[in-house]
Amino acid sequence: MDYKQKIADLIAAAVDNQLTADQISAKIEVPKTLDLGDYAFPAFMLAKILRKAPQAIAQDLVAKLPQDGFEKIEAVGPYINFFLDKQTYSQEILQNVLTAGAHYGDQNLGDQGNVPIDMSSPNIAKPMSMGHLRSTVIGNSIAELLKKTNYKPIKIDYLGDWGTQFGKLIQAYKMWGNEADVKNDPINTLLKYYVHFHEEADKDPELNDKARAWFKKLQDGDQEATELWQWFRSESLNYFMKIYKELGVEFDSFNGESFFNDKMDEIIELLREKNLLKESQGAQIVDLDKYDLNPALILRSDGGTLYITRDLAAALYRYRTYNFKQSLYVVGSEQTGHFQQLKAVLKEMGYDWSDDIKHIPFGLITSGGKKLSTRKGRVILLENVLNDAVDLAYKQIEAKNPDLANKQEVAHDVGVGAVIFHDLKNDRMNNFDFDLEEVVRFEGETGPYVQYSHARAMSILRKANMDIPTDQAYALDDPEAWETLRLLGDFPATVKRAVEEYEPSVIAKYAIHLAKAFNKYYAHSRILTDDEQKASRLAMVKSLTIVLKESLRLLGVQAPDEM
Ligand code: ARG
Repeated sequence: MDYKQKIADLIAAAVDNQLTADQISAKIEVPKTLDLGDYAFPAFMLAKILRKAPQAIAQDLVAKLPQDGFEKIEAVGPYINFFLDKQTYSQEILQNVLTAGAHYGDQNLGDQGNVPIDMSSPNIAKPMSMGHLRSTVIGNSIAELLKKTNYKPIKIDYLGDWGTQFGKLIQAYKMWGNEADVKNDPINTLLKYYVHFHEEADKDPELNDKARAWFKKLQDGDQEATELWQWFRSESLNYFMKIYKELGVEFDSFNGESFFNDKMDEIIELLREKNLLKESQGAQIVDLDKYDLNPALILRSDGGTLYITRDLAAALYRYRTYNFKQSLYVVGSEQTGHFQQLKAVLKEMGYDWSDDIKHIPFGLITSGGKKLSTRKGRVILLENVLNDAVDLAYKQIEAKNPDLANKQEVAHDVGVGAVIFHDLKNDRMNNFDFDLEEVVRFEGETGPYVQYSHARAMSILRKANMDIPTDQAYALDDPEAWETLRLLGDFPATVKRAVEEYEPSVIAKYAIHLAKAFNKYYAHSRILTDDEQKASRLAMVKSLTIVLKESLRLLGVQAPDEM
């Protein structure tokens, strides 16, 4: 039951509906500490209507409100504090969790509507950056949240596999390329060429013209250019796939920028028909003055297309293919201007569905306070981060639980989980400085801490070795258990908030909170003592394992049974 709603209904009835339950519900708070009750209503908002002091209103109402379902209802100054009845509440919540299992918290917000998610989208011939990692794990978690709320996410890896940079790469390869080196270590070698190209082009600007000529050849389907490009692309994709496999992320589509190469003519045609293209210094632009945005450059003076030209074609393609309810782009906040332009141009084209396009931005990762840059060779290699994290996890397990059977597998889940969780636990817009020590820290508010809490609860259940049939009533009025029970009850609302805000951190913070509450409970109670509440305590432990595991799953993190 939704207790907030129930309280709002009761108050509305008690004041003869002079305020609606919705108005009241909007003001009901959850007090900071449990000694102030589970919900609190500030009586101020009734003072004008009832022409009385809030304190007096609070007292009158307490006398009037029916008490059942509550342990007590108290007036404290101008507040009314509601204490839920622990028996009733715990029985209801444990029943819900145990019968629904991993489906607890499932709800229908999406009516099966399609939601393409543009995510990860690294650039070929370059290492996958920390920014792409962020996009991958945030996008993946949003996809899981959408599924849980009955949307149909479509995960699209919009590979950066087209553009003038491939002219540069081909030119660089023609000058310094070595086939064996590329085969041996494709990404690092190609990156080296790319960085070297920029150093040389600073001295010799003619190189840029040569690069442009190669890209032109590529666009025109020249065989040599195409073969080199395809080779770079497939080597890159192999490398990306390895990382996705490590992270446990899968995609529904790899239609990247090159896929839209033959779909841009239509966009340009449409823009022309609608009289939106204007010439400016030989180039074709769309004026976006009335949106307070810079003009969108659609065609260069040499006829070359741009990033936004391809994104326009991709947006239209996605609309036609998926008839989407929303279309999401999980891309760093530095591209906010680009997505504003994209939406504005589509709006100008008369496409109202552009309102359903949403850029989901996220903050920057720096290193030592400095911006990372592939071009300057200042990169953190994701594969190293993952390997280091797994190694560290292995060492920890080796020290703590040397007899664990599947150590390597668990170390993988814990190490990779630590990296993912670290990325997701902060509000996505926060910038953060990357510090490997911090990422692989296992104590405090970390993924391994949540995983460890789950494993500990699993071990209690193993020790108890007792059936917890779902058709029985379990109730706990133990005050030590209350925080955990309340949090278990909050899970569905937490899922809703996370998906509505496209904010996986809501789930990560919740998981930490729940793990902490449970660890406190564990420290203060003898769960396995043989008394009449043992089954109920175990029912709560089991519910906890279900909800922690499901929270981690929504983040893309595994929950090993033992670690
Ligand atoms: N490849 C781009 C980059 O690395 C990100 C692409 C984002 N998606 C999009 N539809 N523009 O910066």
